[in-house]
Amino acid sequence: MVQLLPSILSADFAHLADAVRMAEEAGGTAVHVDVMDGHFVPNITLGPPVVKSIRKATKLPLDCHLMIENPDAFIPMFADAGADWIGVHYEACRHLHRTIELIREHGMEPGVVINPATRVDSLYYVLPLLHHVLIMSVNPGFGGQKFIPASLEKLSRLRKMRADRDLDFLIEVDGGVAHETIASVVQAGAELLVAGSAVYSGGDPVKNGRELLEAAKKAPARADERVA
Ligand code: DX5
Ligand code: ZN
Repeated sequence: MVQLLPSILSADFAHLADAVRMAEEAGGTAVHVDVMDGHFVPNITLGPPVVKSIRKATKLPLDCHLMIENPDAFIPMFADAGADWIGVHYEACRHLHRTIELIREHGMEPGVVINPATRVDSLYYVLPLLHHVLIMSVNPGFGGQKFIPASLEKLSRLRKMRADRDLDFLIEVDGGVAHETIASVVQAGAELLVAGSAVYSGGDPVKNGRELLEAAKKAPARADERVA
């Protein structure tokens, strides 16, 4: 079942409570929160105090995407702030297995995020420990970038790895997910669909979100699913 995760990165930061309310109204089932540190990515956004405030504004799970170096140092603070899911970058973790355990020990659901140049096979040994895997379909750091088509092959490959090993992590995609791309990411295997600018950067965010979700639900099944 596909889910829409509006990314508040593209919302008005002076009105985040309104942004999460609109995410709910649009049919979003979690709120995607982009945390950037100016080191791992060339941009700075928000941290635990803002997560704490957003926590009070919604009951939806907060999917915190940490685009930061040394995430271990901040995981306890995100737990205290009320984060539900934590995604750490494969490229930012020296001891990824330990970081995943740390997230679980703090009562949150662990995810791993991979950049466009990182192979999905790099996650082979940690897949059984994960709540979700996030395939970046743009280089992390900014909203409104162009979708990288090679991400589709990575999504399909990850779905096959999950099926072959009978695992149950969720497959998430983030970056350039919009009306033109949403059906293809769903067909390739994504079920958690992050969308920032396509929801918040023009027109009515509620209408935008609803239309995206509709389009995602209507995406034609893959050939092998049709014969199943
Ligand atoms: C980018 C962030 C994304 C961002 C996506 O580094 O991880 O979550 O909000 O924005 P769009 O949907 O505009 O590509
Ligand atoms: Zn993100």
